[in-house]
Amino acid sequence: MDRISELHAAALAVHKNAHAPYSNYFVGTAILTKSGRIFAGCNVENAAYPQGACAEANAIGAMVAAGEREIAAVLSVFAGEPTGTPCGGCRQRIREFAAPNTPIYSCDSTGVRATYTLDELLPHSFGPDHLH
Ligand code: THU
Repeated sequence: MDRISELHAAALAVHKNAHAPYSNYFVGTAILTKSGRIFAGCNVENAAYPQGACAEANAIGAMVAAGEREIAAVLSVFAGEPTGTPCGGCRQRIREFAAPNTPIYSCDSTGVRATYTLDELLPHSFGPDHLH
């Protein structure tokens, strides 16, 4: 299996576990690190709505907790049409650990529907380099 198919399988596996009783919008994300490891997360909503967390944020949390810091690719599986893309806040979260040319795959349950670079989704972005 190629790495993109592996990422898709990992994202799909957690997508079904999303806790989304309020939006009923399920998202699963898988991150490939430069070291070759894969971390996944799903969205976890909350009765106190603003406390909900996106799939991308939770996948990044798992990656960081494992001691990884460098994102090589991000793949999210979204439900429904049109196929989603990572929200603005999550684009910034990805920016913290990724390069401008890092690929971001937008998928449905069947596979990749669109491919972007981080820079396409978050141009002229603010990042850690601005603080040095
Ligand atoms: N959501 C994500 O998990 N990732 C995104 O990039 C877009 C939105 C979640 C948040 C919320 O639980 C649901 O999808 C509807 O917005």
